Amino acid sequence: NLDLKETSSAVKIQPTMYGIFFEDINFAADGGLYAELIKNRSFEFDEPFTGWKQPNTKTLSPNLDSGFLTIYSDPAKTNRNYARITILNDKNYILENEGFRGIGIHQGEQYDFSFDLENVSGNIAAVNASLVDENGKEISSVSALIKGKGWQKYTAVFKSPQTVEKAKLRITFTGNGIVNMDMISLFPKDTWKGRKGGLRKDLVQKLYDLQPGFLRFPGGCIVEGRTLAERYQWKKTIGNIADREYLINKWSTGFPHRLTPDYGQSFGLGFYEYFLLSEDLGAEPVPILSCGMACQFNTAELVKMQDLDPYVQDALDLIEFANGDSGTKWGRIRAEMGHPKPFNLKFIGVGNEQWGADYIERYKVFEKAIHAKYPDIKIISGSGPSPDGEFFEYGWKELKQLNAQIVDEHYYNSPEWFMKNVGRYDQYDRSGPKVFAGEYAAQSVGVVKPDNKNNWLTALSEAAFMTGLERNADVVYMTSYAPLFAHADGWQWTPDLIWFNNLKSYATPNYYVQKLFSNNKGTDVLKIEHNGKAISGQEKLYATAVKDTKNNEIIIKMVNTDTQAKTVNIKPGTLKTGKKITKILLSAPQLSTENSFDAEPIKPKEEIYETKNGEIFTLIPANSLVVLKVKIK
Ligand code: AHR
Repeated sequence: NLDLKETSSAVKIQPTMYGIFFEDINFAADGGLYAELIKNRSFEFDEPFTGWKQPNTKTLSPNLDSGFLTIYSDPAKTNRNYARITILNDKNYILENEGFRGIGIHQGEQYDFSFDLENVSGNIAAVNASLVDENGKEISSVSALIKGKGWQKYTAVFKSPQTVEKAKLRITFTGNGIVNMDMISLFPKDTWKGRKGGLRKDLVQKLYDLQPGFLRFPGGCIVEGRTLAERYQWKKTIGNIADREYLINKWSTGFPHRLTPDYGQSFGLGFYEYFLLSEDLGAEPVPILSCGMACQFNTAELVKMQDLDPYVQDALDLIEFANGDSGTKWGRIRAEMGHPKPFNLKFIGVGNEQWGADYIERYKVFEKAIHAKYPDIKIISGSGPSPDGEFFEYGWKELKQLNAQIVDEHYYNSPEWFMKNVGRYDQYDRSGPKVFAGEYAAQSVGVVKPDNKNNWLTALSEAAFMTGLERNADVVYMTSYAPLFAHADGWQWTPDLIWFNNLKSYATPNYYVQKLFSNNKGTDVLKIEHNGKAISGQEKLYATAVKDTKNNEIIIKMVNTDTQAKTVNIKPGTLKTGKKITKILLSAPQLSTENSFDAEPIKPKEEIYETKNGEIFTLIPANSLVVLKVKIK
């Protein structure tokens, strides 16, 4: 028998309780969410030929070859490089792009192809392009006639008669002459909300279905960079897409087991697009900025205190970019990009996984400047690993003294650890800073191990842990699983919430746990108890209950990590419940079961039944998560 009661003091669940942590790791942005299909479209990679091949240029001898490509560079520009293509001997010169581990194209869909070209000299009449399959067989072709001199944009639309996971783009030139080319781009027409040059629809849909309370971006370690020069600088990621300055991705060096030197950041998905995505998802935007400290796991380079101003200014300008009206400098830039209405930014993060005296010294400067100008903005501060490495919690003492508002803690640990630590926030000081559990995920093997699995055991242990987050919603204001995305052929880190390839994506069991909690977060915490005690792992049962005053419901989440099923009878006491019970069950044949591209054996199943004598009676199968929803009368 379990008892259900109102709490003595009203504990509200924040609308931001369950959110999304987005970082461009595992090809999450370029090659993933950002739907561009051409890798290194403007030849800006440190190795500018990355992704490109000239299959019939063998000898580099002007007399014999069909042509060749040289990289030209204009150091005064942010998008410096372009390709000079010399076509010789009236032969077919071919340039091929391999995409991001191939180019995924779907039967019956259309693809916008575009490029900038300057006709320099000679008699090149047309650019012919085709999509070819893995064996080099043509799937679809287009042609663009070259008109006049000077740089011009050319466009064409491919129609695909078949589905191919690893196609290539082949561009063929014939004649004699020289052309310059830049921004060679290919996008599906069918993007999220049909935006030209937009985001991959199936991936955004999965985010949308989570109903996230916030979107944290752009990371993660990517915020900090391997060096200060390689930190994420939001101002370089807005404005005209073609002018955004390329930067190598911090995760290109990943871990020894996954070196991905062909991993760059085009910033086609930049800060404006992140704000727009937050708006589309109905999620609060949560940008995290560099605090002048490079990643501790790389160089740990530190900006001197006297040089910190530009970093602080970036934070102030970002708030103006998001919230200023079009009369302000940065608000005008946002308006000119197409969003005159402010984005209503409420949160900003100062540093990711930073700690110690150096961090506190810098945090203080940020806090003073931000709150002097924008007292209502909530600042998220970072924390560091505890001496035993269990939590990123180091720094709380100092942050508490400074009246910090929200502290970001990270934990990647074993499933057993998650089950054991469900009561972690029961002990937190109710008058201290609020918690942002900004990155967590159960690791089936160990942190940064390449063979971690998104299996049912990891998801179940996270569900158990999340009951502890939810019943402590007076302290825990924000939570997010990490990392979010992984390309099956381009990842650096496991486990991850959503896996995708060039054609498809699938949701992991961990995703469905997040979805069930987020879609059923409710508005007010209720007490669910056994013999006057919270249900926090006794007999391997975990539970949390909430009221949803918007939908007029009581929602109970129960996790059974036992190998035996349990029957429970929940007594709603003075709470007036209706009859109909919606029961959602998430379970799996084995703890080792995983979802995959081919099948999702772990997926919520719903059934409807009724209360008996006003009590809620249910069976919780072995190793399962059950969500019960009952209308309030
Ligand atoms: O989620 C992967 C990485 O883990 C993040 O970039 C970093 O913040 C943490 O160490």
